[in-house]
Amino acid sequence: MSQQQEVRVFAPATVANVACGYDVLGFAIDAPGDEVVVRFSEKPGLRITKVTGDDGRLPLAAEKNTAGVAALDLLKHLGMQDRGIEMEIHKKMPFGSGLGSSAASAVAGVYAVNKLIGEPLTKKQLLPFAMTGEASADGAWHADNVGPCLLGGIVFIRSNQELDIAQLEPPKNLWAAVVHPDIEILTKVAREILPESILLENATQQTGNLGGLICGIIQEDYGMISRSIHDVIAEPRRQKLIPEFYNAKRAAMSAGALGFSISGAGPSVFALCEGEESARKVGAKISEVFDKIQLNNQLYVSPINKHGVHVIEGENK
Ligand code: HSE
Repeated sequence: MSQQQEVRVFAPATVANVACGYDVLGFAIDAPGDEVVVRFSEKPGLRITKVTGDDGRLPLAAEKNTAGVAALDLLKHLGMQDRGIEMEIHKKMPFGSGLGSSAASAVAGVYAVNKLIGEPLTKKQLLPFAMTGEASADGAWHADNVGPCLLGGIVFIRSNQELDIAQLEPPKNLWAAVVHPDIEILTKVAREILPESILLENATQQTGNLGGLICGIIQEDYGMISRSIHDVIAEPRRQKLIPEFYNAKRAAMSAGALGFSISGAGPSVFALCEGEESARKVGAKISEVFDKIQLNNQLYVSPINKHGVHVIEGENK
């Protein structure tokens, strides 16, 4: 086990649920994402020495910080909680955005520390520790952001309790247009407005669509993917929190999107598209809808990110 003195990592944004897979399906995109830098220090224990890009909102106390909690959980598991480690967190995506911001910090924190100490665990083995970190932020236990952020690709979770997951190879030409309108939605609030029970008819439809989406991904069948991107459970409730949601959906579908829905708990929305050109056109149309009501927004166009969190070089600006 070789040990480096400093490790810098990037953890990407993720689109959770992917319409019909509430809490059980997600994928990563290339950008935006969070960066974490860790280095050994003489002083025992994990200390967060710097956080940027958070407008002063994140605690420096490691046991209260998503990235810190995930890393501490790993160090505790390895009996290394006294190892002196300094951590810097550089937030490069907004909070409450539906882009898996807390998951990215948790994944970056635990992955960076694991690398620094010589990589005793595999990426997949880091999943429960990253989950603990994310759960400390949103109070819920779901791997649909953390899973793809860590592993990349499209991740299906058979059971969040058992952390039984499968990573699917994305179809070659599958692209995403993700638009983040500048409002904040707390995941906790977006979960509270969901129905406690659902109609059998809706459960059947959602199961059919989730199965269809997974078959479409595996068989690279864009028609099947398109017919399957529907959410009859969360979207009807959550769309109320997103201004112009149905206009954005109409704009995306008329511009040729395969499907459109809410990214995670929102307010970001996403469209899956066949090819980059289509994704750029669809993304611009969605963005225009928010522009029309003077709602600032950011557009991210990306293929499905196949690698998840990784080590990077360089300095922070
Ligand atoms: N699956 C989660 C939800 C994602 O929809 O609440 C939140 O990040």
